[in-house]
Amino acid sequence: MRYVILISGRGSNMESLLDAGLPGICAAVISNRPDAAGLALAAARGIATSGIDHRGFAVREDFDAALATEIERHAPDLVLLAGFMRILSDGFVRRFEGRLLNIHPSLLPAFPGVRTHAQALAAGVRLHGCSVHFVTPALDGGPIIAQAAVPVLADDDAASLGARVLVEEHRLYPRVARWFLEGRLQLVAGRTQLRGETPVAGSLHVPRAD
Ligand code: GAR
Repeated sequence: MRYVILISGRGSNMESLLDAGLPGICAAVISNRPDAAGLALAAARGIATSGIDHRGFAVREDFDAALATEIERHAPDLVLLAGFMRILSDGFVRRFEGRLLNIHPSLLPAFPGVRTHAQALAAGVRLHGCSVHFVTPALDGGPIIAQAAVPVLADDDAASLGARVLVEEHRLYPRVARWFLEGRLQLVAGRTQLRGETPVAGSLHVPRAD
């Protein structure tokens, strides 16, 4: 199995995937920001990288077409969005549907979009977390595969809460990617199908509030 990772920034989720010893080959790391710090980290590991600056394209569909061509060059079985901060057009999503995963820093369907940790604090939730889902044309709305939860503490700000969530992201995403690469995870008729794993016991972590 071959996988491609898409990033826009520092690439800590990318690193957690690369460190996980996944049963597959990371064929490339691609960013819409040629200066993304994560690209240099991937290149230092000897992984093929490319930057396609979305600002060079007049319309979203043209950028997405160039991105799709670059991805397909690596013939991936799986495409992992890891902090990729671009909305993808319906055409792009359909082309990769069923092999396109995203990690989002909230317990979806709560708090789609950006500034999720500030949204969680403003809403006063007691549990926050992250979700890995299949990507469909609905923004942050595709079938959820697994989630990890953390407590919201009384003195949290967006940074401290986000740091606690990020620890869980780094555990959750490699775990889900492994399910896919082992051939146990599929999108079937718009729903997540996971074989050989008890979804609740295998996917929900509620760490102690120390
Ligand atoms: C992560 O928290 C990821 O969940 C989030 O961006 C961050 C990227 O950090 N993704 C989204 O918000 C997608 N809508 P990283 O570059 O260190 O992995």
